[in-house]
Amino acid sequence: MAFTGAALLAALPLALAQSSSSAAVTPIPSGPPFPDTTYPNATVPYAVAGAQTNQTSPPSYPAPWGEGLGDWADAYQQARAFVSQLTLTEKVNLTTGVGWQGEQCVGNNGAIPRLAFKSMCLQDSPLGVRFGDFATAQPAGVTIAATWDRGLFYLRGNNMGEEHRDKGVDVMLGPVVGPLGRSPEGGRNWEGFSPDPYLSGVAVAETVRGIQDANVIACTKHYILNEQEHFRQGAPPDYLTEALSSNIDDKTMHELYLWPFADAVRAGTASIMCSYQQINNSYGCQNSYTLNHLLKNELGFQGFVMSDWDAQHSGVASALAGMDQTMPGDESFDSGTAYWGANLTIAVLNGTIPQWRIDDMAVRIMAAYYYVDRPGHEVDTNFDSWTQDTYGFQHFYASEDYRQVNWHVNVQQDHYQDARNFAAKGTVLLKNTGGLPLTGQEKLTAVFGSDAAENQYGPNGCPDRGCDNGTLAMGWGSGTANFPYLITPLEAIKAEVRSHRGSIESVIDDYAYDQITALSRRVAQPLVGGACIVFANSDAGEGYITVDYNEGDRNNLTLWHNGEDLINAVAAECNNTIVVMHTVGPVLVNAWYENPNITAIVWAGIPGEESGNAITDILYGKVNPGGKTPFTWGDSRGSYGSDLLYQTNNGVNAPQDNFENGVFIDYRAFDRLGETPVYEFGFGLSYTTFEYSNLQVQSHNAGPYVPTSGQTPPAPTLGSIGDAADFVYPTDFHRVEAYIYPFINSTNLRQSSGDPAYGVNVSYPAGAFDSSAQPYLAAGSNVAPGGNQQLYDLMFTVTADVTNTGDVVGDEVPQLYLSLGGPDEPAVVLRGFERLTVQPGETAQFQAQLCRRDLSNWDVVSQNWVITSYPKTIYVGSSSRKLPLQQALDIPAGVAAPAASSAAASGSAAVSSSAAASGSAAAPSSAAVSGSVAAPSSAGAVTQISDGQIQAPSAAPTTVVTQISDGQIQAPASSSTA
Ligand code: BGC
Ligand code: BGC
Repeated sequence: MAFTGAALLAALPLALAQSSSSAAVTPIPSGPPFPDTTYPNATVPYAVAGAQTNQTSPPSYPAPWGEGLGDWADAYQQARAFVSQLTLTEKVNLTTGVGWQGEQCVGNNGAIPRLAFKSMCLQDSPLGVRFGDFATAQPAGVTIAATWDRGLFYLRGNNMGEEHRDKGVDVMLGPVVGPLGRSPEGGRNWEGFSPDPYLSGVAVAETVRGIQDANVIACTKHYILNEQEHFRQGAPPDYLTEALSSNIDDKTMHELYLWPFADAVRAGTASIMCSYQQINNSYGCQNSYTLNHLLKNELGFQGFVMSDWDAQHSGVASALAGMDQTMPGDESFDSGTAYWGANLTIAVLNGTIPQWRIDDMAVRIMAAYYYVDRPGHEVDTNFDSWTQDTYGFQHFYASEDYRQVNWHVNVQQDHYQDARNFAAKGTVLLKNTGGLPLTGQEKLTAVFGSDAAENQYGPNGCPDRGCDNGTLAMGWGSGTANFPYLITPLEAIKAEVRSHRGSIESVIDDYAYDQITALSRRVAQPLVGGACIVFANSDAGEGYITVDYNEGDRNNLTLWHNGEDLINAVAAECNNTIVVMHTVGPVLVNAWYENPNITAIVWAGIPGEESGNAITDILYGKVNPGGKTPFTWGDSRGSYGSDLLYQTNNGVNAPQDNFENGVFIDYRAFDRLGETPVYEFGFGLSYTTFEYSNLQVQSHNAGPYVPTSGQTPPAPTLGSIGDAADFVYPTDFHRVEAYIYPFINSTNLRQSSGDPAYGVNVSYPAGAFDSSAQPYLAAGSNVAPGGNQQLYDLMFTVTADVTNTGDVVGDEVPQLYLSLGGPDEPAVVLRGFERLTVQPGETAQFQAQLCRRDLSNWDVVSQNWVITSYPKTIYVGSSSRKLPLQQALDIPAGVAAPAASSAAASGSAAVSSSAAASGSAAAPSSAAVSGSVAAPSSAGAVTQISDGQIQAPSAAPTTVVTQISDGQIQAPASSSTA
């Protein structure tokens, strides 16, 4: 039944797509859009029950309080000591942003001037300091992932952390593992690493460590299932629907999307950003199942959860569901109203939010601060997000307090060298029939394509890189930074050719076919010879910018600017055509890749500021390519098995995106659907060759897995709440326009709230106020973050020999894949890799370590990880499809689960997965919880819509501005103690 329903509903987008009546969507120019938006064959039995239209999310309360597990103990001790001194409004100030463009960073919380505690600066992005000048623009996540090098993952994180620190950033808004990359068209996939959760998990953990070792708080985002840009905040143009719901089953959640977040939590990520869209029809920032149950309880996350910008949709509900900080603090950008701020003060005063919950929010935020050792490493914010002028307004939106806002501090150090190395090491050689490496002796080098050259507006000429002009070195959106410079491929290649006394010409107009053909012909002439290097790209980004009709997500998987035609035009004349692609993900190469005149194909990823130097290092063999593609290149869009939802499919209600394909994304889908990739996941050539031999498996008996038991301590409270009179705006207080303050207008809380629904009797989710000791989850931990610590017990050490059989030194990334066995499991899943440098003729040893989690499946019945009794095999080789070595794994007795659990874990238990994922209660929308309190609800009464943001119906929120003249502000919580 569920199967039929889901299948029918899944077919809806297609139907809608074919009628052009939907005025709500920008028309896409070519043909019937997205003809193969659904792939019925991709439906996985265990996933269907969870991936249902209108699926609900089970309630989970109370919000777990941080305990200071593992290496967080000291940070918690300091945080509790600090928070114990705070008044209620000072605590609220930690939790609430001052409003969009209220201070210098993309997010700032309130300060605590009484204790000389500054507002924290939260700044994008995952590849550099967004809006910063004189800072390094690193390669994007997808390119660093392609290095498959743990050391480089760490180093890039550390470089970025240092630069954020030196610009005065406290919280760096990265790295990204959501989107994971369910569909290759996903607009923000490139900000993250790879659709493989294991590779992404290793990359995010190392990146977090690198950032936080520079004493900056990392923010791993966007939690969770934020897999597409369309409808992330509702449906344009007027956002009359709620945001999209990603509907998922429990097993897929754990084995795929939650996996890298678990690694980030284990690595100590001190903050996590909850996402815009809904998960099983409950918003990401008020979903008690994903926040309370999965993140804080099961994974034992000790840091704080901040909202994505305007992803908060309720006051009390989001607090009870586990959100700890709202960003940028106002209900919608510069509304002057807030779900928290004064309304949080009121909610605590009237008991709708228990004191232990606000204390826990404040402690978690301060614990993050101490965990990364911010004291002693703080730098005053010396840049401004809203102007590059040296002088400007401290409060940009309000145009108040004109002063110096930019110090133009150069924080680059020598990171450009690393940036070049990362980009070169993350470049993947996909085809080589002799075109590469170039020798430098080419008589005529011809370069083609706008992607080789400079954007005519300059590297930062399009705001947030929202255009595709010139060479692509960054996607678009908030995940960008300003280039301090951008070395184009053309200028770097030109410098190289010149040094060899060669000749180089170029045509950078993608459509100038006469000139393109003429130049290509000259290269191929007798007595001339040389190389034609064609550059092409494919771009994507965040949904608030549309480029060439792509609303963040890509509309297709083709090259931009008719790249296919450009390549074919050159290859028609030039018998040594080398194609270089800068793309955010896979593109379809069918139209040209087999052409014998195309002698080499290179994927140069999203390389950052050193683009030209890095590609030149590869083309001329100064760096032997060793990158491996972190995603699959298919020959059709359908071969990926899942697509985005481009058209609304639920009337006026939230679009429903059913993740029916379970864990089968990217290579897992290709294997399952019997699709042959053009270039498989993990593939990449070198200028040398490697041979694999001598697989050895050493077993370590870690003993049986013991579920965690016992109880947490009860929730602590720190200090006392105080009296409403203490928190009224101080007299003569100057309010900056649209700035969010923690103070209330009067001791009459009802009046102060301005909420017409104040005092309405509602029932709160069971357990939401329970501060008593809570049972630990079996899969959770009472010892350290990351879940049950035995999941990380070492079970096997695997080694293999890798011999360089060619003439030059080269890097190889041996990969370990595992077949977990069972009827509905992927053929293989990645479970180990290591980047090795091997001298010609020499042999290096590859080593991988398998821990218990690596061998386990999520069992929806026992709500824990189990090693099933299905036979398991490991494979080692150079890609997901070139696996010359294999061996069955002998699971030690007593470690694998009894047969019954095996069956459950493997997928025959579709029903239990829906039970686990859906529960009986409705999603904890604010309607269910807001009621007698201040916090305005979005789902409750009338929902007014404007500007793409859902506004609360509250008539006269306490924070509405009444300009009181004069004076200096800074959310002065201090006065409240007077
Ligand atoms: C993005 C986040 C970003 C935030 C602040 C949001 O729209 O989704 O990734 O950190 O804005 O710019
Ligand atoms: C901002 C981004 C933010 C987005 C939210 C944009 O105006 O520049 O930082 O991610 O709005 O939709």
